[in-house]
Amino acid sequence: MNRSPVLVFDSGVGGLPYLEAIRSLLPSERLEYLADSGHFPYGLKTRKEVERVVRLVVGRAIAELRPKLVVVACNTASQAALAALRADHPDLPIVGTVPAIKPAAETSLTRVIGVLATAAAVKDPYLDELVERHASGARVVRKGAQELVAFVEKRLFDATEDERRAVCAEAVAPLVAAGADRIVLACTHFLHVAADLAEAAGKGVETVDSRVGVARRVEFLLREREALAGAGEAARGRLRVTGPEPDATMARFAERFGLECGPSFGDLDA
Ligand code: DGL
Repeated sequence: MNRSPVLVFDSGVGGLPYLEAIRSLLPSERLEYLADSGHFPYGLKTRKEVERVVRLVVGRAIAELRPKLVVVACNTASQAALAALRADHPDLPIVGTVPAIKPAAETSLTRVIGVLATAAAVKDPYLDELVERHASGARVVRKGAQELVAFVEKRLFDATEDERRAVCAEAVAPLVAAGADRIVLACTHFLHVAADLAEAAGKGVETVDSRVGVARRVEFLLREREALAGAGEAARGRLRVTGPEPDATMARFAERFGLECGPSFGDLDA
């Protein structure tokens, strides 16, 4: 039995649906969520820069929170920094987020798969490898949707329904036009608007993500190490940020996901 927390990390609020999936599978685990607001967004940075900030921020959080496992609930960070993070912390299990190309390829009837990702992740060679390995018989159409990342992070609560529909419709339009019947949400932020994306894409089109697989992987690794928290409900989890103290939008996300909010880790580049 191990009462140390599980740390769930993203550049912003994208990892929250992953935290929710972990909590519903493992309700006894204490969850700490870290949004790297001080460096958001990752999707407009180079691979090297993402690697640098992820090592810096996650390294600091590990030193302070002493988690028993880390989930990098961010595709862009996983692609750029997972290997370096694992090398930095060889004794700590670190679970990354992999775009759900495989299940999409296995279930697509049209054999056309759409991939929605950040501007950086959509052209990362890691995505090419995944497509090659799991979807070589399908046509894969990609779209970088950085404006949708910004929308989810900053405007989700204040935007009108029409605005939300419009930004989602714009994101899926080229994928639907190409005949995709599966849309892989290869940026964790997009899970917050998964229903809107599916609706905008129309009948017969489904979104696919890796939430459940990540939660199961967390359970497997904790069980294997005999590090599960044991019986009983966990204490309320906590959402923390980097940079300035959490703003009103961040506080609303924390509330929506049943988390305490703050304090900030501060400016880690200082
Ligand atoms: N949520 C992130 C992802 O899964 C990155 C969003 C961003 O910071 O641009 O890729």
